[in-house]
Amino acid sequence: MDASRRTLCPGRASLTSHQAERTTPVTQTSSLHDPDARGFASDNYAGIHPEILDAIGRANGGHQVAYGGDLYTGQVQGVFQQHFGAAAEAFPVFNGTGANVISLQAMTERWDAVICAESAHINVDECGAPERVGGLKLLAVPTAQGKLTPELVEVAAGGRGDEHRAQPKVVSITQSTELGTLYTVDEIAAIVERAHARDLTVHLDGARIANAAAALDVPMRAFTTDVGVDVVSFGGTKNGMMIGECVVVLNPDAVRGMVFLRKLSMQLASKMRFVSVQFDALLSGDLWLRNARHSNAMATRLEAAVRDLAGVEVQRPVQANSVFATLPAAVTERLQSRYPFYVWDESSGEVRWMTAFDTTEADVDGFATALRAEMATEAGSPQSG
Ligand SMILES: Cc1ncc(COP(=O)(O)O)c(C=O)c1O
Repeated sequence: MDASRRTLCPGRASLTSHQAERTTPVTQTSSLHDPDARGFASDNYAGIHPEILDAIGRANGGHQVAYGGDLYTGQVQGVFQQHFGAAAEAFPVFNGTGANVISLQAMTERWDAVICAESAHINVDECGAPERVGGLKLLAVPTAQGKLTPELVEVAAGGRGDEHRAQPKVVSITQSTELGTLYTVDEIAAIVERAHARDLTVHLDGARIANAAAALDVPMRAFTTDVGVDVVSFGGTKNGMMIGECVVVLNPDAVRGMVFLRKLSMQLASKMRFVSVQFDALLSGDLWLRNARHSNAMATRLEAAVRDLAGVEVQRPVQANSVFATLPAAVTERLQSRYPFYVWDESSGEVRWMTAFDTTEADVDGFATALRAEMATEAGSPQSG
């Protein structure tokens, strides 16, 4: 090695000197964020419900079998069975995209296709994971307010037996939908009936299944197990959990390879007890329902507060925990700097305001007041004509 090279190549740092140079992590003394600041961007922006955080702490300490062989994962099977019936089998996973991709892979052969609404999360918000990771063909159908119907399923289910066509095999619906709307129990029953009559199985993306049950005021099994839904992607994260969703197989004949697909899809948690214990805390008592009812009630309150504001148009029925509205773009921009929320549709300016288990009445009222003030400013501005 020549001399110039040596000077460019400093001596190897020791771990001791590296550690000595480090300062105290800021998170040891304070939060990096304001723990009292909340907006209307997403129920995923919310933190962890304190009862769930406590449960994670109780599952800590000692050693437990990894990859789901632990006592907490064993226990949570019974908890899901209480909600979905004795045949239900639960497979905890990390996230909703994973739950959907695993479910749909388990329900299809390589030549099969999945019928879904054009607005479905699997179609628009999973970065193509169902296609690229799951190898799935999606048959996306334009719908009114994000809801499939038996008639739409019938049309999309054409081409069975045609060797040139991907074979429709699964109908995937979302409850509550991506647009904040709900299927009634009868509407889901009718879709399942039509699907099964056409030899199709039914998957339900339940990222917000608790919000749906709370809004319909029925147990979750009323619009899943009891009407013949085959597989559910059960959502916990948006309803107060830290991390975790669950594939719940209601009809074992509708799937194959579940045991292997979870690992293959990189969704098999090694320390699964900490995912499972959260489901236990959420579902053993009424926490799931309390959180969902509250979140829904905050959306209803928000809609009532903005409904009559001139220039603000609520675009969709408010049936779960989100409000979709159009308003002047300048108002959206100014409001967003105080209360984070998303523009849902850039072309129309439609925004989504979403509530969570920890949204307070004061949050809603404060936001509505700010919106009213911004609309008044806008009405008085010269550009508004
Ligand atoms: C309808 C729906 N399905 C699934 C998911 C889960 O997505 P993630 O992979 O981010 O947990 C979401 C999250 O926004 C969703 O809204």
